[in-house]
Amino acid sequence: MDASAIDLLEIRDYLVELAYEAGNMMTNMTGKTTFVDKANSVDLVTETDRAVEKLVADKLSLKFPDFEFMGEESYVPGVTQLTAKPTFIVDPIDGTTNFIHSFPYACTSLGFAVGREPVVGVVYNPFLKTLYTGVKGHGSYLNGQKLPLRVPPAGSELTLQGALIAIEWGTQRSGPNYDCKINTFIKLASESGGMVHGFRSLGSAAMNICAVAAGQVDAYWEGGCYAWDVAAGWIILAEAGGRVVGGNPDEWSPEVDSRCYFAVRGGQGSEKFVKDFWKSMVGRLQY
Ligand code: IPD
Repeated sequence: MDASAIDLLEIRDYLVELAYEAGNMMTNMTGKTTFVDKANSVDLVTETDRAVEKLVADKLSLKFPDFEFMGEESYVPGVTQLTAKPTFIVDPIDGTTNFIHSFPYACTSLGFAVGREPVVGVVYNPFLKTLYTGVKGHGSYLNGQKLPLRVPPAGSELTLQGALIAIEWGTQRSGPNYDCKINTFIKLASESGGMVHGFRSLGSAAMNICAVAAGQVDAYWEGGCYAWDVAAGWIILAEAGGRVVGGNPDEWSPEVDSRCYFAVRGGQGSEKFVKDFWKSMVGRLQY
């Protein structure tokens, strides 16, 4: 089915309703919810992640019974596959560690893809009351304000040296991926390397991508997260004039489930900026 045969604005409006419901569950439970380890002691899930996913999945299957659903908490490795069919791609709580600690950067991330391409995205942080939405061909917004919020002065180039870059440590804390991240961070920060303005870590892939869409950070580099972490933010960023390329060199058109991403805002010099970033990487991500 083609995206043009689907009422994407109706989908956005329903996802916004669900995001507000999810937000109420999150604000009621933050700091109080029990959690357990998934892959290790820094990869966590709470009872609220599961309850929000169940609510969202149940309501979506009633309202849009012909569409597929992929969610973080119901994902079965090696079994769940993202297909070309219209699919909701959902992270019930992105920023689970923040949610557990009551650090107010947790959100629900609700994406919708057709032909494996994200075409609707809703990201809602109920603690800061920030609602990001994006629909293919209809622009993207933060609380009704068109994105990007920050547009650098005409003529200014996006360069590594002037960049604020979002990064995350990830849940693998040893091995080649960890080495690649840490050594690249050092190179980008150092005077003899990129000498970037700085790094930020919001603890949520969706919030990091939305910050790129807003123009508040220039880019976000990630390896190891999944389609549900990035699908909603992907279209919000694209509609704000930015793009997601691969987290490894020369991957200009990555798949939404490729697990390695470099999200970059729009603006003069962005293609060279991406190439300079890739050149600064120490090794490759191997997810
Ligand atoms: C995590 C966050 C984090 C990213 C991890 C994700 P979760 O998602 O988005 O920023 O670095 O890769 O797993 O576990 O909070 O839904």
